[in-house]
Amino acid sequence: MERPGPPGACGDRGGTERGLCPQVPELQKGTVRIRQPERVRGIIQALREQGVAKLQVISDFDMTLSRFGCNGRRCPTSHNILDTSRVISEDGKKKLKDLLHYYYPIEIDPNRTLEEKRPLMVEWWTKAHELLVQQKIHKGDIAQIVRESEAMLRDGFKEFFDQLHKNNIPMFIFSAGVGDILEEIIRQANVFYSNVFVVSNYMDFNDDGVLTHFRGPLIHTYNKNNTVLQGTGYFQQLSTRTNIILLGDSMGDLTMADGVPSVENILKIGFLNDKVEERRGKYLDSYDIVLESDETLDVVNGILRYILTET
Ligand code: TMP
Ligand code: MG
Repeated sequence: MERPGPPGACGDRGGTERGLCPQVPELQKGTVRIRQPERVRGIIQALREQGVAKLQVISDFDMTLSRFGCNGRRCPTSHNILDTSRVISEDGKKKLKDLLHYYYPIEIDPNRTLEEKRPLMVEWWTKAHELLVQQKIHKGDIAQIVRESEAMLRDGFKEFFDQLHKNNIPMFIFSAGVGDILEEIIRQANVFYSNVFVVSNYMDFNDDGVLTHFRGPLIHTYNKNNTVLQGTGYFQQLSTRTNIILLGDSMGDLTMADGVPSVENILKIGFLNDKVEERRGKYLDSYDIVLESDETLDVVNGILRYILTET
């Protein structure tokens, strides 16, 4: 139930004329779309009132924590970083690119159901990982591959990671990308803090440091739920963290918190990066806050600042 906050607070219904939530001016940005402002106001207020000890953040990585575009071009996903690096043969690069051009439009097609997409995503990931294994990638090359790449985290990432770390808020990165690459990105950005926990597709190397296979279970865009978290016990350890901020850029990211035992409040923030007009309706139906073509973490940081400020 929505409780009214003190006058002028986010939960104050009388505050409509002063904007959705006057204490979070970032919500007035032109990139922000919200279907149910009252609901969003109530969740933000509850997250603030119930305190930092109950909060956890669950986030996707590629195109959510990392940027979608930079300098008029697409930014690479963790897979793309590897696929286009110098350790992949020209033939391998072409095959990986062909896969991307075939499967990516399917991944984001608003006219196909998740049931239709799932087996096709398994196909994409399986073929891509097989091609990568053929390339005899060395573990020792990963750091350099990332340094030489155009990987970029969203503007404001430092404040975001710092705020969570300083307040001991667990941050769970649930990614269908390549774990070794994304860890290296956040390590090189100096934000791989002790409160950050990653579940992703990790590479396994032999004694000579050569990639032999990807460790299971395979995580693709549309199985980001409890089925691939069995055995991690992550959410069970955090059973008192019943308030969640979820960040994603895909419809598949919406199930990332399904394994949390008893969710009290969840604020779902979705980055709508591509095919904005076509996908707007579906995103507004599913995410509480939709950020359209917004390459920053400004809104997330603004909400966190408000939630974490002492009353
Ligand atoms: P995620 O952001 O939901 O974790 O998904 C990872 C992204 O990686 C997804 O948008 C598709 C993309 N991808 C590639 O760019 N290249 C690949 O080879 C594969 C398998 C996925
Ligand atoms: Mg993503």
